[in-house]
Amino acid sequence: MLCFIQIKARLISQNLQTNNFIFAKKQQNMSEQKEDHFLSKKYWSRQYDNNRTGWDIGYVSPPIKEYFDQRMDRAAKILVPGAGNGWEVEYLYKNGWHNTYLLDFAPAAVQKFSQRFPDFPNQHILEENFFDHQGTYDYVVEQTFFSSIPRTIRPEYARQIFQLLKPGGKFVGLLFNHEFNYPGPPFGGTTEEYKTLFFSLFNVKYFTTAFNSIKPRKDRELFIILEKPNRSKNNFLT
Ligand SMILES: C[S@@+](CC[C@H](N)C(=O)[O-])C[C@H]1O[C@@H](n2cnc3c(N)ncnc32)[C@H](O)[C@@H]1O
Repeated sequence: MLCFIQIKARLISQNLQTNNFIFAKKQQNMSEQKEDHFLSKKYWSRQYDNNRTGWDIGYVSPPIKEYFDQRMDRAAKILVPGAGNGWEVEYLYKNGWHNTYLLDFAPAAVQKFSQRFPDFPNQHILEENFFDHQGTYDYVVEQTFFSSIPRTIRPEYARQIFQLLKPGGKFVGLLFNHEFNYPGPPFGGTTEEYKTLFFSLFNVKYFTTAFNSIKPRKDRELFIILEKPNRSKNNFLT
């Protein structure tokens, strides 16, 4: 009888563990599915159509402006992925970086940019998925794009930035230094996460809290300059 009770108790406990596992897995799948929804260009285009663009500061981000203002290399080839309304693109182009490219997969964002800035060369507007883009650049500029990337595919984001840079090229811009608890993007990120994603791939030239952020983002974002080494730092991308 005792033996029977012990076996039954073990079966119940195993069952509970399995149910807990299934429940945890379901929750994980649900949150991944939720994040996947934010991968769609339909979702992003709708945000622009409905003017739900709270991330958009409406002008070039000062730390990015000041970084490029100190540089002379006007022939450099620059990519601004997830550029949205393209304030950085407009600033760079108007200030002599004529080899600047805007990339965004949301038709409404691209349309708004083109209407605002009709003189920008059409062939420098890349309406496509960042992860499918091929090309090589001297700079890739980050402004609130990483934060919109679901966590599950952030390692691919890091690899794609790496692939898009020429050896010696730089990944420059801003990354939030904290997570957000919104149901959708921006998701934010942490210093530890960035170290894991980027430090094995790039030479770290600068990775510090920005001193010239806009007021609402003061002390809440890192300015980064990560350089693609001339030779891969590990075997993973050779
Ligand atoms: C949070 S917004 C940032 C826009 C702009 N950088 C800014 O700061 O105003 C993210 C942008 O990335 C674009 N985006 C998201 N995932 C993308 C992808 N996989 N390929 C291309 N663009 C993408 C969205 O359409 C959106 O314009």
